[in-house]
Amino acid sequence: MMNNTMRRASIPVFFLFLLACSSLPTKSFRPFQPLPPQPPIPADNPQTADKVRLGKQLFFDPRLAADGVTTCNSCHNLALGGDNDQAVSTGAGGGVGRRNPPTLWNVAFNTIYSWDGRATSLEALLAEHLLDPTAMGMPSEHSVTQRLTGIPGYRQQFAAVFSDTDAGVSYADITRALSAFLRTLVTVNSPFDRYLAGDKDAVTEQVLDGFNEYIEVGCASCHFWVNFAGPVPGLAFQMGEGFYELFPNHPGSEYEKRYALAEDIGRYQVTGIETDKRMWRVSTLRNIAVTAPYFHNGSVNSLEEAVRIMASVQLKVQLTERQVADMVTFLNSLTGEFPPIELPVLPATAGKTALQPEL
Ligand code: HEC
Ligand code: HEC
Repeated sequence: MMNNTMRRASIPVFFLFLLACSSLPTKSFRPFQPLPPQPPIPADNPQTADKVRLGKQLFFDPRLAADGVTTCNSCHNLALGGDNDQAVSTGAGGGVGRRNPPTLWNVAFNTIYSWDGRATSLEALLAEHLLDPTAMGMPSEHSVTQRLTGIPGYRQQFAAVFSDTDAGVSYADITRALSAFLRTLVTVNSPFDRYLAGDKDAVTEQVLDGFNEYIEVGCASCHFWVNFAGPVPGLAFQMGEGFYELFPNHPGSEYEKRYALAEDIGRYQVTGIETDKRMWRVSTLRNIAVTAPYFHNGSVNSLEEAVRIMASVQLKVQLTERQVADMVTFLNSLTGEFPPIELPVLPATAGKTALQPEL
């Protein structure tokens, strides 16, 4: 078992190793790469057009939530950067969350899910999330499958997509359809990606200054690679393996007190391992300019302040305002192209409301 000190010490070494490898002609050893148009797809849940369509319907369907009003889009608003503007949200089960909803754009490039990495696949995260009182709040798996089985259009669609039998819609297939839709949420072609792909005019001088400072100050030792969130599957990691770091790395700062950064003890709650206290998954920085508020508790509203805090609590560096402005300009260049999302038509409820049958 590594202790925290070892984990911290190992970061720059790992990064230097990557930088060294980046000069090799091998294709994937580049610490910064344009976002590929498609994330990894697990073998046990292949993408099909009909499955994605079904998943999109479920994403916008309030009948999947305990209150019949909330949808996935309530907290992960795809028109609003893939999150919402609230620090934390009240779930459809009445539970008041204490974590900020992460953006779902490019979510499938993560290797583990949620701020503390509690789930190792999208399907597993959603199996929990549908029943979480701070998210969709449904009382049981049975209540979810019963609702959808009671909607004839869904019964037919699930039967066609998954060869589900007369027994009705299966819980696992609901998480599979939703995950398939989430795997289509990709924002390619950010200005910085175009720069990485060879278009030297895609970004301004200030973006490049900001990027250099980002590397020099040490942000890149944690936020690198395809999703600016650490190692990607395939080389250093397999899907389901996570990249965690201490946050705050340097405890006891003013920032920590002002924004309550150390109250939630993070991954420890999942593993119970002492050295996992205040360990958090390294966040993606893609589209970061449009996903305020920041951090696991959503306590910080401006990106400038988030950058100051990160330099201070992770690296013990006091940035000049010029450096902050440059870095924010660089981070702005990580905003990709958001493909338009057309609202799906949902299958009608037969007879009385689908929300009635005993939950
Ligand atoms: C009431 C708000 C709310 C609703 C509704 C909601 N979520 Fe979430 N979601 C959250 C929060 C908060 C988190 C972060 C939880 C944590 O890390 O502890 C999260 C995390 C996630 C994650 C993990 C993201 C990552 O970066 O690891 C996925 C995927 C996700 N939600 C998908 C969905 C889908 C699909 C639905 C609809 C079935 C949904 N959510 C409904 C609030 C919500
Ligand atoms: C030692 C690793 C490490 C270093 C170095 C680091 N970060 Fe982070 N970063 C993290 C972790 C872990 C999180 C998740 C924090 C949390 O749980 O709220 C994070 C979160 C963030 C967030 C908020 C993401 C969100 O969606 O709310 C921003 C912005 C950010 N980092 C930018 C930076 C910048 C800019 C630098 C350099 C000044 C930097 N980071 C240095 C590990 C690091």
